[in-house]
Amino acid sequence: MSIFITGGAGYIGSHTCVELLEAGYDIVVADNYVNSCPEALERVKKITGRDFKYYECDIRDRSALDKIFKENSIEAVIHFAGLKAVGESCQKPLEYYDNNIGGTLVLLDVMRSNGCKKIVFSSSATVYGSENKVPFVETMKTGTTTNPYGTTKLYIEGILKDMYLADNEWSVVLLRYFNPVGAHKSGLIGENPNGIPNNLMPYITQVSVGKREKLYINGNDYPTKDGTCIRDYIHVVDLAIGHIKAVEHIMKKTGVDIYNLGTGIGYSVLDVVETFKRANNIDIPYEIVGRRAGDIAECYANADKALKELGWKAEKNLEDMCRDAMNWQSKNPNGYGN
Ligand code: NAD
Ligand code: WQD
Repeated sequence: MSIFITGGAGYIGSHTCVELLEAGYDIVVADNYVNSCPEALERVKKITGRDFKYYECDIRDRSALDKIFKENSIEAVIHFAGLKAVGESCQKPLEYYDNNIGGTLVLLDVMRSNGCKKIVFSSSATVYGSENKVPFVETMKTGTTTNPYGTTKLYIEGILKDMYLADNEWSVVLLRYFNPVGAHKSGLIGENPNGIPNNLMPYITQVSVGKREKLYINGNDYPTKDGTCIRDYIHVVDLAIGHIKAVEHIMKKTGVDIYNLGTGIGYSVLDVVETFKRANNIDIPYEIVGRRAGDIAECYANADKALKELGWKAEKNLEDMCRDAMNWQSKNPNGYGN
């Protein structure tokens, strides 16, 4: 029996493949490589010394997906496949709804017709929106997302809840990730953004290797300790291990359970810059510029539920994240395109 990983060639997916293989699971991967490449999966094989099947497949392609289910014995799905750029989603809402929601609908239908009713879904802290107070707890009201990307996560959470209401044989875990950063300690896999990075850590690592001149910090006039935004950065390997716990959970029980995957600690942008400099003994020049539209001042998790019910807690600290991110970037200055 295998775990089917959609979007497994991506940043979080590839790290989760490593942890699953190392924990002894068999896996099958599907990805259309819209934001990744098969080289990441070859490197997963290299790290783990294990083989597995992977398919170039768009999850909206019903017959291709069905064929994968027919060719393999799939017990459960971890569903990473999706588009994730917040800014782009505001320019291309239709593409985001089509890919993320349309893709999920096809996946769920194919799962159902093949008798597979266990799924772990990559949701996001973005569903907490702008009106809740930190730390964010799973019981808080959601529904105030501020961009189409976030709205796709919210809708998919709702769709999965409805699947269970209609058929209580379904077993669903919704994982709300906070800010995943860092890379596998081997430096063989990591985050590989196209073009100018939108996110903080890949921008800093590109400055660190001289690909960008300096970091632009988006605002220092927020109501926080140093005026810059606070986020809950989580090491991608800790996040990947959280998925193993979620898979163990869906094997044991039906229902819908929601878990925050974060450290519970908030760091400011300046904290990240200072920690990165210290951890890597390198300077990161920066300039303070205006606020970025849509940013909230603070976002961090209450991560108690995942500890209590899944026995999971993040182990790595911000220094580990900065060191491992730099290790990946310096070994692969052009990502997988070296
Ligand atoms: P990623 O872009 O690196 O990985 C997503 C993968 O899905 C890519 O390999 C992409 O090629 C693939 N994909 C996209 N659409 C597809 C389709 N229609 N069919 C097949 N494959 C498709 O992103 P990531 O950071 O690894 O994120 C994984 C998941 O976690 C996404 O759903 C994302 O929204 C969610 N998430 C990410 C973050 C984050 O900050 N990285 C935070 C919260 C949630
Ligand atoms: C962190 C802080 C920026 C870049 C995003 C998505 C969220 C989730 C995780 C998917 C903010 C500041 C950044 C730069 C900067 N993804 N910054 N200069 O926005 O918290 O979360 O990824 O679900 O939905 O929105 O992460 O890394 O972009 O920003 O000053 O060049 O760093 O303004 O304060 P964010 P981020």
